[in-house]
Amino acid sequence: MRTFVRREGRLTRGQARALDELWPHYGADVPEAGSLDLDALFGRRAPRVLDIGFGDGEALVAMAAGDPQRDYLGVEVHRPGVGHCLLCAEQAGVENLRVAAVDAVGLLRHHLPERALEAVYILFPDPWPKKRHHKRRLVQPALLDLLAACMVPGGTVHLATDWAGYAEWMLDTLEPDPRFTNTAGPRAFLPPPPPRPQTKFERRGLGKGHTVHDLIYRFEPAAARG
Ligand SMILES: C[S@@+](CC[C@H](N)C(=O)[O-])C[C@H]1O[C@@H](n2cnc3c(N)ncnc32)[C@H](O)[C@@H]1O
Repeated sequence: MRTFVRREGRLTRGQARALDELWPHYGADVPEAGSLDLDALFGRRAPRVLDIGFGDGEALVAMAAGDPQRDYLGVEVHRPGVGHCLLCAEQAGVENLRVAAVDAVGLLRHHLPERALEAVYILFPDPWPKKRHHKRRLVQPALLDLLAACMVPGGTVHLATDWAGYAEWMLDTLEPDPRFTNTAGPRAFLPPPPPRPQTKFERRGLGKGHTVHDLIYRFEPAAARG
């Protein structure tokens, strides 16, 4: 599963400084092999939330700041975005946030322990609108298997997109999977406003006249349903 093409882009001076100076505090260095020690990383034991592809991180920092009882782990491959997120985290003074600058698929597959996550956000994933690129979409059955391996029963997956075709694709991927239950009812989107901060890509989509669709699924493996 390859869901991104690496476009480095230029780091601003502030982002470069942040990657240098703030990484030791907020950065999650993923080991070559084996699981991340999340208790050591956050310095405590708490329910944990993963934000996959957080972009510039402003929404992630806002979520972490508004929810100090839980720990937030963000994962993003775009280094300028990671740098921006670190700057925002420092400015907000959040302590319950750590950032991994790696492929989320590898992180889930190899480095997150079982039952590590209470919630997962996938907000405005790259839409890959051309049919021949659909295989690069993050939301696909293989990702659901990886999420199921890392989530606690009763945990939630919150997805959002401003691409109508991807919204349908998300429904088509998640609805047939008996481990995930749509909290709004079968094939239903959440009524606005969604319970999350607005993101940069959301603003961009709204500016183009797109409609935003949100979905929240509860992870209920058969054992948990009884
Ligand atoms: C369209 S942007 C959305 C960013 C942000 N969530 C927002 O709403 O503003 C999608 C982001 O996902 C990141 N991404 C895509 N595939 C990824 C992967 N496998 N692991 C980590 N990040 C990924 C991209 O680098 C990009 O920044």
